Amino acid sequence: MANAVLVHGGAGSPNSMSSVLDDILKNLKFENNVLNMAISPVMSMEDNPLFNAGTGSVPRIDGSIQMDAAVMSGKEFGSVICIENVKNPVLVARDVMVKSPHIMLSGDGATQFAREMGYGYYNPATERSMERLKKFNEETTKNGMPDKFKFLEKKSGDTVGSVSRINGKFAAAVSTGGAFPMLRGRVGDSPIIGAGIYAGEKGAVVATGIGEEIARNLLSYRIYSQIGEASLGNIVKKEVDSFTVSCGIIAITENEYISYSNTSMAYAYREFQ
Ligand code: GLY
Repeated sequence: MANAVLVHGGAGSPNSMSSVLDDILKNLKFENNVLNMAISPVMSMEDNPLFNAGTGSVPRIDGSIQMDAAVMSGKEFGSVICIENVKNPVLVARDVMVKSPHIMLSGDGATQFAREMGYGYYNPATERSMERLKKFNEETTKNGMPDKFKFLEKKSGDTVGSVSRINGKFAAAVSTGGAFPMLRGRVGDSPIIGAGIYAGEKGAVVATGIGEEIARNLLSYRIYSQIGEASLGNIVKKEVDSFTVSCGIIAITENEYISYSNTSMAYAYREFQ
């Protein structure tokens, strides 16, 4: 089957943003490296403040920005959890996979590892993301007693993600600022193997949406494990339609690909000869 890359801009991203993703894929140079072909568009989305990943990541309710990212190809996996002050968390996740003996690094340890790998200090905050926190604080305190935990239930999550199929191999990459609003230290589905991301010899799957529910269902592995039992479209639709919170999936196999969400979700697909 043709070499191909499929990307999404997050559950809840307007479908009109697909043109931004089309441009990212148009500018993607072909490499005979399935992992790089998945990581490269995620890096572009991290660098674009329109997306909730890297620059433009949503803040925690204490004002800090902690980001999650993961990569997977074959049986290899790497992720960073609640990493701070780096430009491209997805590159650090790749280094966890390729250059460290571990599969996951979190918090201060992830940030320290990034510095050791040569990634300098970078503040990913934007005016837009901090404005969102300001509005949240105004809303939760306007009646005197703040009830932030009540508001924490109303989450929006917009991970970005990519899956690639290059010369019969598969890879996946994801990156997110998390699901706003959330506590410092909160971890969603994205950096957890099988929850927000899975890739193996049958294909690659990434999820977006409310991470708690996606992780409870081990959604990406659950979809991956069914590949071959029905059409990819039917497998993905059945799983996503069972969610009552926002949820989206992109997936690619040897012969099929799908982008499906129970809310709006920008996506783009490109084949390479
Ligand atoms: N899906 C992104 C998150 O819940 O963190």
